[in-house]
Amino acid sequence: MGDLMFISGRTRVAGIIGHPVAHSLSPTMHNAGFRAANLDWVYVPFPVEPDYLGQALSGLFHAGVAGLNVTVPFKVAVIEHLEGLTTEAMRIGAVNLLTRGRSGWIGDNTDGRGFVQALQEAGFVPEGKSVLLLGAGGAARAVAHSLLLAGVTELTIANRTPERAENLLGELAEYYEEGMLDRVDWAARSNPALLEGFDLIVNATSEGMGAAHGQASVVDLAGLAGENKPLVADIVYVPLETPLIQMAKRQGLPTLTGEKMLLYQGVISWETWTGRPAPVVEMLNAMLTALRA
Ligand code: ATR
Repeated sequence: MGDLMFISGRTRVAGIIGHPVAHSLSPTMHNAGFRAANLDWVYVPFPVEPDYLGQALSGLFHAGVAGLNVTVPFKVAVIEHLEGLTTEAMRIGAVNLLTRGRSGWIGDNTDGRGFVQALQEAGFVPEGKSVLLLGAGGAARAVAHSLLLAGVTELTIANRTPERAENLLGELAEYYEEGMLDRVDWAARSNPALLEGFDLIVNATSEGMGAAHGQASVVDLAGLAGENKPLVADIVYVPLETPLIQMAKRQGLPTLTGEKMLLYQGVISWETWTGRPAPVVEMLNAMLTALRA
């Protein structure tokens, strides 16, 4: 269903590198944005062979590609091939956005910033807030840094493997005050007295991915009966309503579903490359149509 009428001698090319990339929703989302904004741009998947990552990056740069997204398994591996890194990408230690520098690519990370923008669009103000973050992997690392950069003042991490939570907290302590950082045991994550204290509860583990209806939620919110109604966010978007989101809704809590993080990391990429405000609604609708198909 490519719209080849759209391609001209002036068409600018953006894309995504990964291995594989066939499952990626980014081409659908970005091209919907280009069409809605009537821009002579196209976004294509580049399935790069891992042994040739450096050559592929160099070739795409010198072939005039305007910008790239980076997905699994290259988010860390690209770094050694770049001309520079933004502060956020350096702190997170991973890259999902490339823009053109003088003679090579500059790496940025919009995963965590995308999550924060999704929160803000949902009316949540991060400044001064207290957050429970589930997970300590790559996604959790991006979310943690971006929340702290956005002004969150208390971040508590719970992870199934405690050593990984300790490691992430140790990394965070290099940049943010230790008094803002805490850890709780995975087994204690559903304790109502603990949950009552947070303004935001985020699942950044992969638990819930592909979950069947009725499957247990990654955190049990049933004891949350007090005045405080934390926002419950999931970064998992398959299914769109994870068991965690379903449970939060049953408890009458506000929710943020995972496709919004994917949307806004893309929106920030799109706006960075084109210098224009993104047609967010069209990009979201294209992504949702693809997700439901
Ligand atoms: P990603 O880049 O998606 O964050 P990752 O770096 O492999 O992927 O991290 C996966 C995260 O999901 C980790 O926090 C992992 O917990 P462990 O560190 O204990 O492995 C978490 N995770 C995955 N499956 C889980 C499950 N069934 N229950 C709880 N946590 C899970």
